[in-house]
Amino acid sequence: MRLTDCHNFHDFRRLAQKRLPQPIFNYIDGGADDEVTLRRNSTAFETCDLVPNILRGVDDVDLSVETMGVKLDLPVYLSPTALQRLFHHQGERATAAAAEKFGTMFGCSSLGTVSMEELAKKHKTPQVYQFYFHKDRGLNRAMMQKARESGIKVMMLTVDSITGGNRERDLRTGFSIPFRLSLKGMLQFAAKPAWGINYLTHEKFSLPQLDAHIDMKGDTVTIGRYFTEMLDPSMNWDDVAQMQEEWGGTFCLKGVMSAADARKAAEIGCKGIVLSNHGGRQLDGSRSGFDQLDEVIQHVGNDIDVMIDGGIQRGSHVLKALSLGAKAVGLGRFYLYALAAAGQPGIERALSQLKAELLRDMRLMGARKVSDLTRDNLRFR
Ligand code: LAC
Repeated sequence: MRLTDCHNFHDFRRLAQKRLPQPIFNYIDGGADDEVTLRRNSTAFETCDLVPNILRGVDDVDLSVETMGVKLDLPVYLSPTALQRLFHHQGERATAAAAEKFGTMFGCSSLGTVSMEELAKKHKTPQVYQFYFHKDRGLNRAMMQKARESGIKVMMLTVDSITGGNRERDLRTGFSIPFRLSLKGMLQFAAKPAWGINYLTHEKFSLPQLDAHIDMKGDTVTIGRYFTEMLDPSMNWDDVAQMQEEWGGTFCLKGVMSAADARKAAEIGCKGIVLSNHGGRQLDGSRSGFDQLDEVIQHVGNDIDVMIDGGIQRGSHVLKALSLGAKAVGLGRFYLYALAAAGQPGIERALSQLKAELLRDMRLMGARKVSDLTRDNLRFR
């Protein structure tokens, strides 16, 4: 199987599975507990159907949107995700470059493997910095300062990871950073020599956003332990209001689910929220962002920009979210599998397929611009 054999999300996922050592593939692929929420994130889009309009003259279609004051050429953006150089040696460099080519936003993660300064310097397209609230307040301040100096405009605080989700696939494979693998895991790495050679012959793995503050080199740290031991479970609305004030610029919360919390986010001055369950990786049994979207939009849609992420595999999923009023839709695994499959050309292929799908589906919907899509275009079953 090669890149040219990849025609949709599932193909990229299969190629990623072929290329990656099993513990790494499962880290991306897996969710929490029984993975009910992980599955629901995609199946939620099947609970409603699109109602197209005809004969609207759809020769020109404009896919651009605006969210949190930022203009995007596409209604999708690349959500911040961790550890990308582990998936492909180009890592975040490939993701940021592909985002720029498609004129959309890229999220740099606190657990990123390329420094935010480097990426911000190199790419003009909007970037968000994804931020975790650490117990160490000095670290929080230093990260915000670094983001400010790098010229990053949007701060995105993740609020669904107050403690680590129960990712049983990772427990089984022994996935941790840096790697100290179980015997079974070791055999898995040996079974993917091409990945191993690439990993060993490129820049050493590091977490530049955290390295100066946290020693991730000594003991191995699982993602669960990072969340549970290093993030501050006492974080509350007052802390976030204060952080928002300190930042002074555009601030956004990722992982909001309830309408009441969405209202609070608007009240403390956030410009945006992302309805997200962290790709089904945190609270299993949680609602999907798409399932919550209508209720939240009805409640706060005029006061704050609402985005969603989770489970997006198709252009039609994006159109359904836009029809309900989402300002933009975040992609996670969608580009991570493509990155793992083939680096930057992989992500570019996945994005050009999605763009073609969006253009085709907009035409079939009789929509010339994103604002033509409304709730009237949707019926729930
Ligand atoms: C995860 C974190 C790191 O889901 O975002 O693994």
